[in-house]
Amino acid sequence: MSKPFEERVFRDPVHKYVTVQHPLIWKLIGTREMQRLRRIRQLGTGYVTFHGAEHSRFAHALGTYEITRQLVSRFGREDDGHWSREDDLISMCAALLHDVGHAPFSHSIESVFGEQHEHRSVRMITEYSEIERVLHDVDPALPSLVARVLQKTHPKRIVSSLISSQLDADRMDYLLRDAYMTGVSYGAFDLERMLRVIRPFEGRIVVTHSGKHAAEHYLLARYQMHWQVYFHPVTRSAEFVLRSIFLRAQHLWQQSYRFAHVPKGLHALFSGSMDNESFFRLDDAIVQAAFDAWRDERDPVLADLCRRFLDRHLLDYEWMQAYDEQHVQWRRDQVAKAGYDPSYYVHIDAPMDWSYAMNDDARGDSPLYVWTPEGALHEMSTQSAIVRAIQGEQRGALRLYAPRL
Ligand code: NI
Repeated sequence: MSKPFEERVFRDPVHKYVTVQHPLIWKLIGTREMQRLRRIRQLGTGYVTFHGAEHSRFAHALGTYEITRQLVSRFGREDDGHWSREDDLISMCAALLHDVGHAPFSHSIESVFGEQHEHRSVRMITEYSEIERVLHDVDPALPSLVARVLQKTHPKRIVSSLISSQLDADRMDYLLRDAYMTGVSYGAFDLERMLRVIRPFEGRIVVTHSGKHAAEHYLLARYQMHWQVYFHPVTRSAEFVLRSIFLRAQHLWQQSYRFAHVPKGLHALFSGSMDNESFFRLDDAIVQAAFDAWRDERDPVLADLCRRFLDRHLLDYEWMQAYDEQHVQWRRDQVAKAGYDPSYYVHIDAPMDWSYAMNDDARGDSPLYVWTPEGALHEMSTQSAIVRAIQGEQRGALRLYAPRL
């Protein structure tokens, strides 16, 4: 007889404790693919603006798991027939593993190489990996069941909604964590209250009527974090430099340029042969070590971009109230005259976000519903003037990025 599993805890700045009560969760945390997330920053280039934003995707994965654990333990008690005990473990596994397919600086890598983290997470769970082996050992059906939660094809939509919807454990954790680590207070909302007012109801996640204002606060936190933190112009500038580094390196690779140094993971990225093993070898440190080596490359564009990124000599930006073709062309000419290739040095950013969508959006996220004492469901924006004001597509002013000349 094996010993009963002893509860384990992690100290966490946001949740105080992350509690592990199931041996499967403990084993998954110990896999090398999960440990890799310790080496990837949650906010990518966010640390160039907010120096506290050094937290890892590992911390966020544990936090998302913890919120899910707390939610499902309440669902169990208030089972309305749409939530079963078997759903608990699958939800917790999916929460823990939901970001395992993130590359370092994944937004830039995704935009240049088309490597989608959602797709990679599914591969890391269902194809050869330690995660796949651990899940398979418990039940051969488990890897694909967990993957289906992330793909939103799990037979119970509510299970996917817990991890990915307009009110989910993923968002609740990253808003609180990113706010805490960046040192801003916009992202703060009352998590404890939220956990008390979220219910499973007829196959979806709803908020009780008394929790309406807590939900309002959560949606506002999301709105504020996007405009004040995630779309910060300096963070975006670093992202554009990064994107240009990858674009230039890919271009050189296609020209059979001989790099002094290309790490294994980037090799696979450039040649389009990314298997799980090569992907596993990509993290922030590897990428930054390559950039440091590329400071000395013979190619002046690659060397300059890498120096800019590492030394934080990013691109300057100016606001444009509307797109002005003439002005953009003038700026491109100026940059070219100074000896820079505008295709790597001039960028236009058009930040856009949906803080809340009252209709089903393209990703199949259902709106948020408030559950009245009479048992009726009302879509959130019909219950709150504040939510009505931020619902739908929000666009910020355009920014034109170029080097200081
Ligand atoms: Ni996440």
